[in-house]
Amino acid sequence: MKPLIVANWKCSPVTLREAKRLFDSIKKGVRDVKNVEVVICPPFVYLPILGASSFARQRASYGGLALGSQNCFWEEKGAFTGEVSPVMLKDLGCEYVIIGHSERRKYFSETDSMVNKKIKIALKNDLNPILCIDKISQIKKGIKGIPKGEVKKVIVAYEPLWAIGTGMACGFKEAKKFNFSIRKILGGKNSVLYGGSVNSQNAKAYIKEAGFQGLLVGGISLKAKEFVKVVKVVA
Ligand code: PGA
Repeated sequence: MKPLIVANWKCSPVTLREAKRLFDSIKKGVRDVKNVEVVICPPFVYLPILGASSFARQRASYGGLALGSQNCFWEEKGAFTGEVSPVMLKDLGCEYVIIGHSERRKYFSETDSMVNKKIKIALKNDLNPILCIDKISQIKKGIKGIPKGEVKKVIVAYEPLWAIGTGMACGFKEAKKFNFSIRKILGGKNSVLYGGSVNSQNAKAYIKEAGFQGLLVGGISLKAKEFVKVVKVVA
């Protein structure tokens, strides 16, 4: 299986011009990298513009970038002011959706039961959910009530809170232990990603030494050169 490298741009960049430039630089940088699945998760507002790029839509033939969103609502449509439906995301060419990121849990009070509803609606709409956790207990709550055959489609991102945006990445041995426990709970069939201060120096070891199937990259994904390096070192 190809390593999965997910760029979480969070609430940046603040202009469309910068977003396009960043997307294009990454696209160019990873053009020849065929054996890594690269997913860009920009802010919602940029999705239709970046998704309209033929590169994103026809990526199968280019081996290029996939699009993901940083969140989605748990209903498909209706009177829910300010929310974004998974059906809309799918329609714009999104293939992945990050769910339950620690910043959503912290600043927007997302609970495990909200996260669970979002995972279910993402699966229903054929979006690959990336369930973010920093505690093992969040896994079972996140996948509650999901049939076994569907559970294996859930990608889990282990992101220790203290490692996010701090420059203090989790040690490989400790990360490996968590990876092992997560895989055990899920029956060994799911992709598990590591996230938290990933950079081009530590990226490879999470895949090769700690056995993760990919990485969730925040800060560094806003620096095209450095992000492309991350992709290349795991290729
Ligand atoms: P970071 O963020 O790479 O800036 O630590 C990771 C994340 O929040 O997904």
